[in-house]
Amino acid sequence: MTKRILSCMQPTSHLHLGNYLGALKNWVRLQDEGGECFYGVVDLHAITQPYERDGLLDATREIAAAYIAGGVDPDKSALFVQSSVPGHSQMMWLLATIAQMGKLERMTQFKDKAGKHKERAGLGLFAYPVLMAADILLYRATHVPVGDDQKQHLELARDIASTFNTRYNVAHFIQPEPYIMGAATRVMSLRDATQKMSKSAESDMSRINLTDDADMIAKKIRKAQTDPEPLPYALKELENRAGALNLVTIYAALADSDKEAVLKEFGGKAFSEFKPALADLAVARLAPMTKRMNELMGDKAEIDNILRKGAVRARAVADPMIAETMEIMGFWK
Ligand code: TRP
Repeated sequence: MTKRILSCMQPTSHLHLGNYLGALKNWVRLQDEGGECFYGVVDLHAITQPYERDGLLDATREIAAAYIAGGVDPDKSALFVQSSVPGHSQMMWLLATIAQMGKLERMTQFKDKAGKHKERAGLGLFAYPVLMAADILLYRATHVPVGDDQKQHLELARDIASTFNTRYNVAHFIQPEPYIMGAATRVMSLRDATQKMSKSAESDMSRINLTDDADMIAKKIRKAQTDPEPLPYALKELENRAGALNLVTIYAALADSDKEAVLKEFGGKAFSEFKPALADLAVARLAPMTKRMNELMGDKAEIDNILRKGAVRARAVADPMIAETMEIMGFWK
């Protein structure tokens, strides 16, 4: 059976190196390995927290541009915007009748995002994981590449799928397998390597944005947190050196290599030597991507064309799936 892969990102802010190495690069590999891939820009999710109305459209295009610049090939993969496929909202409602409040209340991401005033959080934020389950089940995705933080949401999607199948006595939904993108490519903050590189961290110096120019990339790497010791020869000696480990991880991922190989090359060398090498590599890898992204952002008609084609492909799966699901549930048609 060919794998059917689905994954998505929210158009909530600019992408950074962690999103590229931890997610996008894997998406491209799965696509090139011949999986049937659906990659979405989930704008309906993006409005579950306060957002700027006038920025939504460009943010959506920017994520799509980043997918393409990062190697998602719109001829191979369906690259679509969530809101352009009505099935997502429709499926969400149908699944909302299956999902249990008690389980949703246990979602740690909701608790984090809602903060202290849970009673003021919107229903949409609470139901976020149900919409995500809809994204996945709508395409009968077999594999869902996600980061660690989305594991719980994926568990819920599996749970909803099996509850539905049991309740209606069908083998309708497929249980999606999480495809947890490895710790091997987990990119940490350049300022505090105990934290994930994140778009919400206050200091912009903590992350490398896909839109940063060469000088900025070099500067951020030069200032990245490390320690005074030279790089070791053995990986296990990086155990308590989070900053050093992070830079070695980034180097290995950018070079399509592994950490052992990086240490073989740079063991015994000081950061004053390693950091410029890393900066050169990062610029060499990211500059063409940034360039392509900027080109696309300058040609919105081109992005929109790609997204329109993606919507057609996504709908070819999603629309019949909605019809079938409603039939199973006993609706008039
Ligand atoms: N919640 C995911 C995130 O923030 C984004 C997302 C929405 C998603 N729907 C999805 C990821 C479906 C994978 C599959 O990262």
